[in-house]
Amino acid sequence: MKCIAYVSRAPISRASIREHSVRMPTGLSEIISASREHNPKSQITGIVSYREGQYFQVLEGPNFEVDKLMAKIAADPRHEDIWAFLDVDIIERSFPNWGVSVFNFVDQGVFFSTFVENHRIIFNNFDDYQKKRIKPFIDIDKIDTVPDEYYQGKNLRLLSWPDLNNESNPQMIMNLCIKLTKKPYPFNFLADSGEFGTPQQVTQIVREFERSGILSVTEAEPLVEKAVVSEKKPNKFYGAIKKFLGMR
Ligand SMILES: Cc1cc2nc3c(=O)[nH]c(=O)nc-3n(C[C@H](O)[C@H](O)[C@H](O)COP(=O)(O)O)c2cc1C
Repeated sequence: MKCIAYVSRAPISRASIREHSVRMPTGLSEIISASREHNPKSQITGIVSYREGQYFQVLEGPNFEVDKLMAKIAADPRHEDIWAFLDVDIIERSFPNWGVSVFNFVDQGVFFSTFVENHRIIFNNFDDYQKKRIKPFIDIDKIDTVPDEYYQGKNLRLLSWPDLNNESNPQMIMNLCIKLTKKPYPFNFLADSGEFGTPQQVTQIVREFERSGILSVTEAEPLVEKAVVSEKKPNKFYGAIKKFLGMR
């Protein structure tokens, strides 16, 4: 299975009032009825939406069907400037059925959040222009926050050092990096020490490290009871010699 997602622009319509050229979703109702009819037959799920002059569409399903439909859509003159920001193999669908949402995602809200969450790494790598373009549908800066408890109970290890010249408090960041350099270090120790600010501030710093690919995050090892080492039996022979020599 695969997933393709893109945004595209509706063509500019010059027939609009006061000679202002605006982008119009001409043929939107035909697009919606074609997709409602065709997509379930090809086991394609996802969503199509229109906002602020742009279409946003997610197509998920069998590789062949998704590629075939995407080729047809790409050649459709009812939109232009297509930016396919996602084209990946998937194991599970984010959307269990086909959905159309013209102005909002209320009906698909939970599924939409799952989709964003499932592909978060791709969104995090968007540059400012790309973030701005997709903003009517997904506010990347808002989703890129991790809950405070995200690193709780996890071990952190630095894979390489950040550029300290870019840090506002290089001494503190250096001290923190030293702790994370030798071996995986529990996040909770960092957060509880108070040495690096509040737990939220520590979360933010390590989140930055993780985003720039220099941090490995692992689940803390569960506490394993130490195996009882079988007690060494006293060696009778050496014991006897020691006794003989008066050492015992
Ligand atoms: C933004 C946009 C999204 C579209 N989404 C779909 C879709 O999900 N499913 C679909 O069958 N057609 C979709 N279409 C329409 C197709 O491009 C095509 O016109 C339609 O599938 C009819 O194809 P046919 O003439 O081969 O039957 C979309 C068109 C546009 C412009």
